[in-house]
Amino acid sequence: MKKVKRYDKEFVPNIPVDIFHKKNAKIADFPSETLYKNTRDIPFKFSCNLNNTVDWSTMLSEAMRLSHYYVEHRRGESHKGWESLCIHGLSSVHIGSNKDWVSDEYNDKNKWTDVSYWTPTITEFVKSLQFTKLARVRLMKVKAGGWISPHADGGAIGALNIALNNPIDCNFVIQGFGILPFYNSQNKQNPRIILPNIGYVHSVKNSSNQDRFHIIIHGKRSETTEKILFQRKE
Ligand SMILES: [Fe+2]
Repeated sequence: MKKVKRYDKEFVPNIPVDIFHKKNAKIADFPSETLYKNTRDIPFKFSCNLNNTVDWSTMLSEAMRLSHYYVEHRRGESHKGWESLCIHGLSSVHIGSNKDWVSDEYNDKNKWTDVSYWTPTITEFVKSLQFTKLARVRLMKVKAGGWISPHADGGAIGALNIALNNPIDCNFVIQGFGILPFYNSQNKQNPRIILPNIGYVHSVKNSSNQDRFHIIIHGKRSETTEKILFQRKE
């Protein structure tokens, strides 16, 4: 198996977003955990368990209804149309790393924000996953025609990335592995929930004419969370 460079710290390669996506234009294979001796090398984990048991369309409408209030994410970096709002965190607009503000990302100052009042279905869905602790829970948008430039955040698999929608021609790519096989209107059996390994260089490019809305959950997963997400359904 080919070895792809994984970074322990933030890294930004010098490659234009278009070329990065052209070089990684195939759909990534679903990784078999047995192939990876070091579990930190797995490109992503995924869960289809909730594909048919959750009210995805109401959650999408809650996220879309707030669309004008989202805050530009990672201002000053070379992204376009990447925006966010916290429903749980230090405040609704503390969308960056908690570590910039408090020493521990699970600091007691995290709370359900004012925005969460307006996203009751999403809030209940997040609570139903029964995390031991939550840090940031964010609504994430990549506008039509927007992109997240290639970067590595450092580390390995962390947060849950949950597709409320994923337009055709809007691709989340991991270098060396390809396009993450997110649920979309043509692939409804694909996972709504993917946990990407953000130690690898990754990027999103939305070449569609629709905004893309995801939820990202940073939290400590309980045994129940693991069962809900990863226990095989018979
Ligand atoms: Fe990232």
